[in-house]
Amino acid sequence: MTVADVRGLGSLDQRSGLTVLPVPAAPDEPRLPRARRYLMCPPEYFEVAYAINPWMNLGVVVDRAEAMRQWQELRRTYERLGHTVEVITPEPGLPDMVFAANSGTVVDGRVLGARFRAPERAAEAEHYRRWFGENGFRDVVMPACTNEAEGDFTWTGSVLLAGTGFRTDPAAHGEAQEVLGVPVVSLRLVDPRYYHLDVALFVLAEGGPGRSPLVAYLPDAFSPGSRRVLARLFPDAVLATEQDAACLGLNAVSDGRHVVLPLEATGLADQVAARGFEPVFVDVSELRKSGGGPKCCTMELRA
Ligand code: ARG
Repeated sequence: MTVADVRGLGSLDQRSGLTVLPVPAAPDEPRLPRARRYLMCPPEYFEVAYAINPWMNLGVVVDRAEAMRQWQELRRTYERLGHTVEVITPEPGLPDMVFAANSGTVVDGRVLGARFRAPERAAEAEHYRRWFGENGFRDVVMPACTNEAEGDFTWTGSVLLAGTGFRTDPAAHGEAQEVLGVPVVSLRLVDPRYYHLDVALFVLAEGGPGRSPLVAYLPDAFSPGSRRVLARLFPDAVLATEQDAACLGLNAVSDGRHVVLPLEATGLADQVAARGFEPVFVDVSELRKSGGGPKCCTMELRA
């Protein structure tokens, strides 16, 4: 007979007097990758020409050739993992257009476009809208409220997590629910370094029938109420450290098995490896000068 230890620290076997280590309720399932379709934009005109987040320092020198090499490597990484990468043509004068995630939220082939908070980025939304139109997306709606798309919206397979606090208007959350027809859960971001949801949280494995999604996040990036919401929805989440979040480690992309993340996020890589995922490191040091990482450069086109 054993006496359960509710804190999960082990249990005492009363016959032998030995402490028995806790066995996880369900052993980690096999992590199966699913082929994805991504949209990316080469950093041809990338620079730090304005500062709209704490990562952007005016006067910082960007090595554009190196940014391009890092971007190419990210693209090749996806292709090597079996994913399809579509490419949109970059536009001069739009240095942040490389951050494709901000220009659309696509679920079940339905597209909700973007409306940027910063006037410097406003024109990007129309270029992406046109791309959707020319590439077979029939159902494209442009938002009325400020909406930075997958920067602040994350699909978990069952609900759409929606960030607000710095960029996306909370009213855009209701708009997303109505347009995409999926349940939306609002989350409030409180740390200006983590100004978008996709630098504070990512989905490791999507949920499905009878299976809850697995996410990783930095609790301190969220308001106390949102932290309670996250704990309630995702009791077994990977909780990242400040150190891993501070290299934009949470701006990661998972296909259900492989987790593409910045090479500095070594602690997070160990944590996800312990849950059965395979970390795949990429160098995003140039793109980080604008506050972006792998996920920012990647919009998922969900059929
Ligand atoms: N410089 C860009 C901005 O501040 C970075 C956007 C990063 N994208 C993202 N999905 N978090 O808007």
